[in-house]
Amino acid sequence: MRVAVYPGSFDPITNGHLDVLRRAAAVFDRVVVAVLINPRKSPNDPAEVRVETIRESLADEMASETDRIVVEMFEGLTVDVCRRVGARFVVRGLRAVADFEAELQMAHMNRAMAPEVDTVFFMTALEHAYLSSSLVREIAAFGGDVSGMVPIAVARRLPQGGTRPGVGQASL
Ligand code: PNS
Repeated sequence: MRVAVYPGSFDPITNGHLDVLRRAAAVFDRVVVAVLINPRKSPNDPAEVRVETIRESLADEMASETDRIVVEMFEGLTVDVCRRVGARFVVRGLRAVADFEAELQMAHMNRAMAPEVDTVFFMTALEHAYLSSSLVREIAAFGGDVSGMVPIAVARRLPQGGTRPGVGQASL
């Protein structure tokens, strides 16, 4: 059985993440979405909320795959998660060249720690290539429409700023 771990902050999960997950599910028998506590970032939502939102998104948008995709929260190293769940693959998405350097570094470091684990990259679909969780949060906070960028479960939860400074205020 081919098991893969898809690690990330998912703060929040976007349609770009879902696209990568869909494609990973077409290749692997089981995908463990690992919501990792990243000591270098201070997340907007607690890990429990991120896990719950991903589960809801999967139920809404990938219902037929929910028995092969599990979502869990983890602390520690991605490679330790792989060992714990019996995964020989790490899945990551690449949006553009800008992602490449950091991803290459992570893949090499993970491989140095766990030579039995390989990183597999999926190119994010072009229509999602501009998406990032942080931009989604910012747009939502200023009242912008993020409905095409995130699953419904996320759009429902995101705090909508409601006011868009400068928008609709004619300066004559
Ligand atoms: O969605 P992100 O924030 O780009 O995901 C980064 C993540 C969580 C995959 C990365 O920070 C990670 O693997 N963290 C777990 C700790 C770890 O294994 N660090 C060494 C990576 S070489």
